[in-house]
Amino acid sequence: MHTCPMFDWEAAWHAALYGPGGFFARGEKPSAHFRTAPLVGPELAEALLTLLSRVDAALGFPPVVDFVDVGAGGGELAFAVRSLASASLASGPLASGPLASGSLTSGSLTSGSLTSGSQASGPQASGSQESGSQESGSQESASLAARLRVTAVEVGPPVELPGVRWTSSVPPCVGLLVGHEWLDAIPCPVVTGPSADPWITRWWPALADGALAEVGAPRDEAWAAAVSSVRGAALAIDYGHLVSSRRFTLTGYRGGQQVEPVFDGSCDITAHVAFDACAAAAGGDFVLVSQRDALRALGLSGAVGGSGWDWLESAARAGRIAELRDPSGLGGFGWLLHGNGVAVADLLPELPPWRPNPASFSTG
Ligand SMILES: C[S@@+](CC[C@H](N)C(=O)[O-])C[C@H]1O[C@@H](n2cnc3c(N)ncnc32)[C@H](O)[C@@H]1O
Repeated sequence: MHTCPMFDWEAAWHAALYGPGGFFARGEKPSAHFRTAPLVGPELAEALLTLLSRVDAALGFPPVVDFVDVGAGGGELAFAVRSLASASLASGPLASGPLASGSLTSGSLTSGSLTSGSQASGPQASGSQESGSQESGSQESASLAARLRVTAVEVGPPVELPGVRWTSSVPPCVGLLVGHEWLDAIPCPVVTGPSADPWITRWWPALADGALAEVGAPRDEAWAAAVSSVRGAALAIDYGHLVSSRRFTLTGYRGGQQVEPVFDGSCDITAHVAFDACAAAAGGDFVLVSQRDALRALGLSGAVGGSGWDWLESAARAGRIAELRDPSGLGGFGWLLHGNGVAVADLLPELPPWRPNPASFSTG
């Protein structure tokens, strides 16, 4: 860890990840180094498609509906959203779809999960996601699928994936923009307390003398720009902290292991997101809730049933959902959801406010 007061942390962090030969710039994919929710299976995409259907309904079913995955990495989330939607459009057996390699079951795209305009698409409808007419559900979901445009935004090299367009900057869009573990990968300055930096005085007032702190201003700016680029909703999913629980969390990941953050391009370098600062920078109508609560509100339930192969598939799905909802793991991630031209209350029911997960600090 560098201690020289003149060391430019932000420049070094940026060069290590995004400079020539940098970790992400040269094409390292998260799947080779750490496990994120899109890599668990299609269930996160399924929940986000349900959220997108609510955004679509609240926008009045525009002719083109965007799903924009910012910081897309290997494009797994974007591709899963495209594939699940396409499977519903085909309205044939989902087993023929692109995700048919065993992880997607016909029970995982429920008839109510892509409805649009009906009561079942509203945030209070989470308990009824598994009910309703398969036929009408698939008609309505087909309508969304036919209008859906999926974009992966990534500064690293794109990956060829059917139905996913790639770009290196956030485009204007109408629909749902998601930054999944994007903000934590945006480099920040680092200061030592005491600090007169305006971001620190507002957002990290308890910084102790001699202690290090990441200055979250570049993330605030990036998030505010992303939210303003979308008509509909923008969602940041990440690990983070609040003004009441700030910690210096800069760390590295390489080959599935947490490592000392070295700025030579050999590892991912990340730090927790100051959610409250990002939320205030983007402003407007927003909520900050836990992934655990949000997934349940979007209808993901891990019921195990049937017999034989069906039982095995439902048990596997239940295991994946349990991993996504684990309060000491991925379920403890924050979901910062902003509405832009859409009321957040039309997208999610009232849920408990997100609280930082103390377990996430123990390795940070
Ligand atoms: C931690 S990875 C997350 C990847 C993927 N979203 C996931 O959860 O598996 C962060 C990704 O964000 C990308 N990234 C960082 N800043 C970016 C920016 N301004 N625009 C586009 N991509 C960016 C990085 O190149 C990296 O692939």
